[in-house]
Amino acid sequence: MNNFLELASSRRSIRKFEDTIVPAEDVEYFIKAAVNAPSGCNSQCWRFVAIRDRDIMERIEEAVIKKLEQILEFNKKELTESYLASKRKMVSFFAKAPLVIAVFMTNANYYDKVLIASLKEQGYDDEGIMKLLGNFDILSVGAAIQNMLLAIHEKGYGACWMNDPAIAGLEINEILGIPPEQKFISLIPVGVPAYTPKSKKMKEMSEVFSII
Ligand SMILES: Cc1cc2nc3c(=O)[nH]c(=O)nc-3n(C[C@H](O)[C@H](O)[C@H](O)COP(=O)(O)O)c2cc1C
Repeated sequence: MNNFLELASSRRSIRKFEDTIVPAEDVEYFIKAAVNAPSGCNSQCWRFVAIRDRDIMERIEEAVIKKLEQILEFNKKELTESYLASKRKMVSFFAKAPLVIAVFMTNANYYDKVLIASLKEQGYDDEGIMKLLGNFDILSVGAAIQNMLLAIHEKGYGACWMNDPAIAGLEINEILGIPPEQKFISLIPVGVPAYTPKSKKMKEMSEVFSII
């Protein structure tokens, strides 16, 4: 890779992996890339759990599929067996990766206590304050995940940012022994890619960018 744009533009989501183990020093490299991301008020409001244990992956897979089936129960008339089979696969392919990184969001800090006190006086709760301030906690976690995806790609591995498993977020916290206040955000399966992804359709630059 000659430059950053080449690294960023050649990264793709990978959903099928070789069995090759990802060594601990590579995992640490990915996490170091993640924790160097910017975060609102330097909160570093993230937590990562790297899972290589197959039993734990299977327990998470079961929890996600169970939750999916519970959700779909309410639209039984449109539920075909082939839809269900493909949906099950779509939400649980992470469990076949040699490594899965679970990402959680921890409490953010606020630099400006005067501003926060004023908002509380006006009846804002913690969630309302964070929403008003542009949800910088979740944005910070997203920045960390993207740093991590690029580091994974740089090392020749593939990964996929997966939010679908969030349907079973609380169950994932429980399986991994993470307290519920640390909100589950995403799973990132990682491994040596088992295929080359097709090229993807990109929007025109003029559609997404202007300079004035
Ligand atoms: C916040 C976020 C959540 C995503 N969740 C999922 C997911 O649950 N399952 C999945 O297969 N892909 C998921 N993706 C991957 C996107 O589908 C993928 O990034 C997009 O199609 C563009 O393809 P590319 O990553 O190969 O460039 C997610 C991506 C982002 C940024």
